[in-house]
Amino acid sequence: MVKNVVFVAAEVFPFAKVGGLADVAGALPKALYELGVDIVVFMPYYGDVKKKADDFGISDAGIDGLKVKLNDKIEEFQLFQAKLPDSDVPIYFIANERLFGREGVYLDPVTNKPFPDTAERLVFFQKAVFEAVVALGINPQILHVNDNHTALMPAFLKLANGLPPNWSRTKSLLTIHNLAYQGVFDKDVLDIIGLGWELFYPTGPFEFYGKVNFLKVGIIFADAVNTVSPTYKEEIQTPEFGEGLDGVLREHADKLFGILNGVDYSVWDPRVDKFIPHHYWLDDLTGKTKMKKLLLKEYDLPYDAERPLIGMISRMTEQKGYDLLADAIDELMELDLQLVILGSGDPKYEKFFIEKSKAYPEKLGVKTGFHAELAHYIEAGSDMFLMPSRFEPCGLNQMYSMRYGTPPIAHKVGGIADTVVDADENPELGTGFLFTRYDADALLKAVQRALMAFRDRERWLKIMQRGMKMDFSWESSARNYLKLYNEIYEGNL
Ligand code: ADP
Ligand code: GLC
Repeated sequence: MVKNVVFVAAEVFPFAKVGGLADVAGALPKALYELGVDIVVFMPYYGDVKKKADDFGISDAGIDGLKVKLNDKIEEFQLFQAKLPDSDVPIYFIANERLFGREGVYLDPVTNKPFPDTAERLVFFQKAVFEAVVALGINPQILHVNDNHTALMPAFLKLANGLPPNWSRTKSLLTIHNLAYQGVFDKDVLDIIGLGWELFYPTGPFEFYGKVNFLKVGIIFADAVNTVSPTYKEEIQTPEFGEGLDGVLREHADKLFGILNGVDYSVWDPRVDKFIPHHYWLDDLTGKTKMKKLLLKEYDLPYDAERPLIGMISRMTEQKGYDLLADAIDELMELDLQLVILGSGDPKYEKFFIEKSKAYPEKLGVKTGFHAELAHYIEAGSDMFLMPSRFEPCGLNQMYSMRYGTPPIAHKVGGIADTVVDADENPELGTGFLFTRYDADALLKAVQRALMAFRDRERWLKIMQRGMKMDFSWESSARNYLKLYNEIYEGNL
């Protein structure tokens, strides 16, 4: 049985969050701990985290002399520690002023572009985690890494010399949260990786069209790979969703799994949500009406009980369907609805939707930037939730919105297909409205179907209530991860 796990991620809620990876990294380890796993989490000590160290109860781990080799240079680092909130799960932070002292997780907040030294940051971080784990005397049975940021670790585990002998049985799992981000860098990065240039040959593990692709390395060297929903696991093996790695994934299909993410209901539940002033549940939805009023006030839009309010929260990227929404927006605004958007990312979309909101001052509200509290207001205060993602590895917002009685209108892909049931196709079980073709017309039709259902109050309440009662808690996902850990460790893969 697997007992000891080291879990590594570039973002962990509440310390640093860009998207769903942070939510998962902040919750899954706690759920595994509840199942009896001794799990320890590692992440970088970003400038943003350092600034809030006191609030988070972060302290020095008291280990001196930590260092890694990068190229011919020795890079020293410090180790800080805390616990994941409301738990006994230890989290350690890798601190190095030169590489991580600044603010920003992946993007430079000033330029909105990836840091020029991204590759060095990531290689350093991964090497440092190994050093820290050894210095702490931890002997992990499973090394669980996440996304391209930590995908070199399985290769270090298999190829690097100098790991303690009791690591000889350690196995690795790579979770792919999003195949669109692969960590592709100029081949010079091999110098700082330090595993030798002989691994770099055409179609070899470290070669990807003349460059180095961290995620590809991870897929090849990890003992098992999983994605965050069963449907996405199938999709990524096709050229349409494979982002150029579908061939590699098909080659490794026998060690590829799909495990649906869970929801941390201690953070995302309208009965206990710490961010919203009015709580509610199935039997009394007045708190939801109050939240709708508050939310509209935030966006400076008029309240109308009869007019459905659609909410949308997501990183402003192509992935999330902003191109479709841009195509559909004028027709959408002709319908009897209001729409509030919270998103940050591509300046092209930020600008476009802000301009549009000026054209529809009573119907469209747009806010950019990252606002945790507002995200909770939108889940609670909206009548429906829009998620037209082009692809969606799992997607957490559709699961959150169901719990808040805010049925999703969404593109039927990835984790959305695994979690939402269309209410017209399946009137007995329906929890939302899905469209399959990825175009503006299909999106509009799904919205119109949702509006129809909304007018039938009784039917709508049933759709809401079914969604609120769905249970996507982490416990069952964590059991699946534990099962997979055991299979990997027993060498069954
Ligand atoms: P992804 O990880 O692809 O961004 P998910 O649906 O898995 O998508 O998770 C997104 C998470 O990030 C959710 O918790 C969502 O509420 C949050 N989020 C996204 N954009 C923002 C934003 N601008 N402000 C606040 N929270 C956001
Ligand atoms: C990614 C995906 C999202 C998923 C999240 C957590 O960012 O885009 O679909 O829910 O990771 O696994």
